[in-house]
Amino acid sequence: MSVPKWFEDAKLGIFIHFGIYAVGDVSESWSFYHNRISYEDYMNQIKYFTCDKSDAKRWAELIKKSGARYSVLTTKHHDGVALFDTKYSDNSTIKNSPYKNDIVKEYVEAIRDEGVRVGLYYSLIDWSHKDYASVYEGYRVPDDLSMVNKYTSPTDGKQDKEAWYRFMEFNKNQMGEILGNYGKIDLLWFDGDWERSEEQWGLPELKDYLKSFNSDIVINSRLKSYGDYKTPEQGIPITRPEGAWEFCTTINDSWGYRPSDNHYKSLGQIIRMFCDCIHMGGNMLLDIGPKPDGSIDKRQEDILIGLGEWIEVHKEAIFGTDEGIMHRYFLGGSTVSKDRKTLYLFVYDKPEENICLKGLSSKIKKITLLHSGKELTYDIHGGVPWFNIPGITWIKLNEKDCYKYVTVVKIELEDELDMYGGSGTVVTHN
Ligand code: GLC
Repeated sequence: MSVPKWFEDAKLGIFIHFGIYAVGDVSESWSFYHNRISYEDYMNQIKYFTCDKSDAKRWAELIKKSGARYSVLTTKHHDGVALFDTKYSDNSTIKNSPYKNDIVKEYVEAIRDEGVRVGLYYSLIDWSHKDYASVYEGYRVPDDLSMVNKYTSPTDGKQDKEAWYRFMEFNKNQMGEILGNYGKIDLLWFDGDWERSEEQWGLPELKDYLKSFNSDIVINSRLKSYGDYKTPEQGIPITRPEGAWEFCTTINDSWGYRPSDNHYKSLGQIIRMFCDCIHMGGNMLLDIGPKPDGSIDKRQEDILIGLGEWIEVHKEAIFGTDEGIMHRYFLGGSTVSKDRKTLYLFVYDKPEENICLKGLSSKIKKITLLHSGKELTYDIHGGVPWFNIPGITWIKLNEKDCYKYVTVVKIELEDELDMYGGSGTVVTHN
């Protein structure tokens, strides 16, 4: 698993869950899968998917403003409704919704024009395709057939491999469309790999096929073991995931637009989650769900703009940096410059008199606040320098000098960052 440098340095991406589910205040695909709405009523939403305020340029400008370096649009969710012009299925917005333009094309062009990397989400699962529910995961017939969901697999224990091969051919053709018809695609975001085995998804050959369109394409890890980076979802990791990773999250509780979901995270919470991700060497993929007319809820727009403002002020501590130091050194987030001579501390809560940095062995050159340039004084207490055990660095900082939401303290060092990690010692020589 490895990713190109652009992805590691990108830090922020914007996810867009756009689909017919935005019409009726239901969850994307899962609502019919779990029988919360009938399949017919779910699909009927497409008639009201007007996109009459749709403006990909506006989306792209907003995404650019958020500070994101890449963006990922759902080209087809588990419901199988393609937002692109597909030769291989009638299940598409172009064929069945009032909006006759190719949404994926409009998106790709607008995003590319803004200089943002282009990502496409594609659900491997297609609960609408007649050949999809033809086999079981790994061809293993479950003991209890009453637990089988009819959209996923046959309910009678009889498998049809031919149908499955047809489905795979269909999926591959559609992937060929999204990767081949819109110029270079930087990232492919799969979903739903859990319903079949590697062999059934045709791996590793499928990966070679995808790479034939762009050998540098980044593929998320929802392609069984063939992805390039991990995608923890909704629950922020506590332990750093191994290798490259991206945390995907909603702004409220829903991926797609749901007018009844008012459980929005605040801007401060989103900024802090973002800092948590980059502190542990990951990216954050923040989701928006446009309305069925293509416009974006003001609350989602405000979060993106606010996040972008914060990022703009603090970009030096974000882009071109590596993951930070452990929380046992500093109770907050942090990043380290590529030359390892600058440490950026993310101060989450307003301090009363100072913040505390433990274990710093390197000599400090200067400490400033990133947003204002104001120099901060500090004091070092304790330590046993002749045993190479550093003292505690107390950096003077109080509420009035802090920035909104998260304050960044920039510590310039004489040499490369060096942290002490031991358990102390008895001082035998004074
Ligand atoms: C999920 C869901 C889906 C959502 C996605 C986002 O596991 O299946 O509805 O689009 O992943 O990460």
